[in-house]
Amino acid sequence: MRQTLVAGNWKLNGSLDSVKQLISGITAGEADTGDTQIAVCPPFVYIPLVANLLADSKVAWGSQDIADQESGAFTGEISGAMLNDFGCTYAIVGHSERRSIYGEDDDFTARKFAAARKAGLTPILCVGESLEEREQGITEDVVSRQLDAVIKLEGIAAIGDSVIAYEPVWAIGTGKTASPQQAQDVHAFIRGKLAGLDQSVADKVQILYGGSVKGANAAELFTMADIDGGLIGGAALDADDFLTICKAGA
Ligand code: 13P
Repeated sequence: MRQTLVAGNWKLNGSLDSVKQLISGITAGEADTGDTQIAVCPPFVYIPLVANLLADSKVAWGSQDIADQESGAFTGEISGAMLNDFGCTYAIVGHSERRSIYGEDDDFTARKFAAARKAGLTPILCVGESLEEREQGITEDVVSRQLDAVIKLEGIAAIGDSVIAYEPVWAIGTGKTASPQQAQDVHAFIRGKLAGLDQSVADKVQILYGGSVKGANAAELFTMADIDGGLIGGAALDADDFLTICKAGA
């Protein structure tokens, strides 16, 4: 049985005060979230603070991005070793906002995935199609291509030690959630593709859904056979909303 994981991606949001408030709200309610695994991914600069505030909590933390390089003249980058110094468990790689706004392609994402693993972090690999791609009927091709870049560089076994997040771009921040069946269809496709390469990896890997997950729709999504939790944007910025989603996975 795969455990449910609910991870909050805070994106470019927060302040010293709001981070303290949010973490205190989450820790106050975490006891009611059963065996749901929980993680938060703050902006880099708040990671040390979050690490301190979560020292006695079951809630893990991670980064929203990671350098593909280990060290050196790479201005503005944050390495896996640095994230490790602050107790990160996870590193999100290939979020659609990195891909579409900052031009990060499949190969670059694969190198970031490799960098996370090398530093002992669990990559949360984001995949997903745009609205045009869905309308063209090439959702599976796109997701396949995004996965293949990582499998080619790191091998199929590496996927077993990671988390995959299926985030249809058209559902992110739009209020348009994929229906549970639409999401399940793509999750089943991903798991089936992995099973064709290694059944044990397919059985083990957690595949999260992301895109306008809220307290009101989380339970329905999480009961689908191949949906093992969620990667949450907007609703992860409110402790009560986030906890409601975590409880839906319990
Ligand atoms: P929203 O939950 O705000 O749609 O964002 C989803 C997302 O991009 C999480 O990584």
